[in-house]
Amino acid sequence: MKLFLDTANYEAIERWIHTGIIDGVTTNPTHLSKTGKDPKEQVLKICSLLPQGIISVEVTETEAQKVYAQAREIFELAENIAIKIPCRKNYYEVIKCLVKEGVRLNVTLVFSLSQGLMMSKLAVDYISPFVGRLDDSGGDGIELVMQLRHMIKQYGFSTRVLAASIRDVTHFENAVLAGADAITVPVAVLEKTVEHSLTDKGMMLFLHDWQSLGKKQFP
Ligand code: E4P
Repeated sequence: MKLFLDTANYEAIERWIHTGIIDGVTTNPTHLSKTGKDPKEQVLKICSLLPQGIISVEVTETEAQKVYAQAREIFELAENIAIKIPCRKNYYEVIKCLVKEGVRLNVTLVFSLSQGLMMSKLAVDYISPFVGRLDDSGGDGIELVMQLRHMIKQYGFSTRVLAASIRDVTHFENAVLAGADAITVPVAVLEKTVEHSLTDKGMMLFLHDWQSLGKKQFP
C-alpha cells in the first residue's frame, strides 16, 4: 500500500519524508498555485526530494493534442513523474497513446465505476477516485473505492486505485479498509492520522512511574 502526500508544499514534504512512510506526492494545479512559486521549479524540487517516490503532476492544457504534448513534456522533467489527466472521454485517445509510449499515468477526477472501468481497460497506472468531493455531492466515495477494487480484481486489470480527496482520519481509515492500493493525504489529515491521545497519555504514565524509581541512568 502506498501513502502519498497531497500537497505541493516543499517544506511540508521535506518534514515528512524523513519518517520513511511517504511513497510519493500528488500535486494538482490548485496545490501548485497555492505555493505562489514557479510551478516547474517547484515540481523539480519535489521530484529530487523523493527520487524513489512517485510524484503526480497534472496537465493544465485542455485541448487533446495540447494535453498530449504537455504530458510528454512534463514526463521528461524527471524519472519519477506520473502524469495526471482528467478522466474525460475526449482524452481517451491521448491516454491510450501515452500508455503505449510508457508514460506513467494517474487518471484523476474519477467519480464512477464506469469511468474507472474504461481507464482500467486502457491500462493506466493509477485511477484517482475523489472520495471527499463525491461525498460532498451526495455520493459515497468510499463505496466507490471498494467498487473499483472489486472490478479490477474481478477482471484482472493492472490499474491501481489511488484514493484522493481525503478529508479526515475516517476517510483515510475507510479507504484502507476498502483496499485502496494507494491513498493521498493532506498534511493536516496525516498529522491527525498518526497521533493518538492514549499513546501520549500512556507514555506520560510510564515516564511518571519510571521517575519514581529514582534511576538516572539506564541501562
Ligand atoms: C489529488 O490527487 C487530488 O487532486 C486531491 O486529493 C483533491 O483533493 P480535494 O478534493 O480536497 O481538493
